[in-house]
Amino acid sequence: MRKKLIAGNWKSNGSLERNADLLDSIVGAKALGSVDVVVCPPFPYLPSVGDAVSGSKVELGAQNCSATEEGAYTGEVSARMCADVKCSWVILGHSERRALFAESDDVIACKVKRAIDSGLKPILCIGETLEERESGRAEEVALKQLDAVFLSVQPDESWVVAYEPVWAIGTGKTASPNDAQSMHKALRDNIRKHFPQIADKIRILYGGSVKSSNAKELFSMPDVDGALVGGASLVSEEFVSIIEAAVE
Ligand code: PGA
Repeated sequence: MRKKLIAGNWKSNGSLERNADLLDSIVGAKALGSVDVVVCPPFPYLPSVGDAVSGSKVELGAQNCSATEEGAYTGEVSARMCADVKCSWVILGHSERRALFAESDDVIACKVKRAIDSGLKPILCIGETLEERESGRAEEVALKQLDAVFLSVQPDESWVVAYEPVWAIGTGKTASPNDAQSMHKALRDNIRKHFPQIADKIRILYGGSVKSSNAKELFSMPDVDGALVGGASLVSEEFVSIIEAAVE
């Protein structure tokens, strides 16, 4: 049985004051322990958020890391630095990074390699655009993004995949539970083909306009192992309700 995981992707949002309010409710959530919870604030807040969750079951994640080693790379934050400030996780390959910052599959594979070399667990995001879905290529696109990383960096069962259809991110549109299930199953079957020993253990999250009102139905699907939550992770009652919806 895979334990459900709910990860909050705060994106470029937050302030010391707002973070403190949000974290108060999250660390008090009754479902912690039955559900794994990760919060991913912007880089400058990692140490203070890390302090706020230390001693609780909430884990810390970064939203990105550098594809380079440390050195003369102005503005870059290495995976080792993230691990140094107590991150256990890092979101990589988010569609906003792919679309707005031109991250290719090769760059993402490189970042994943840096992450695991530093002891971080990747949350690898993949997903198709609306045009790709409408032209019947959703599965092909998502599987290609998955293979680009899985076949160049040997995965293990601690990795997490987040299927996030681009058209559902921040739009209020969510994949139907059946569409999410069918994609998650295709992804798991593909993982099974190459890495049979981890296929039933690896968690595949759904992301894209997850909220308290649609979480339970999505989580009832056999291959949906939790959620990567953007907008709703910034509203404490919403995020806590999503965590509660993941209790089996
Ligand atoms: P959303 O974002 O929940 O606001 O759609 C999800 C994500 O981008 O990870």
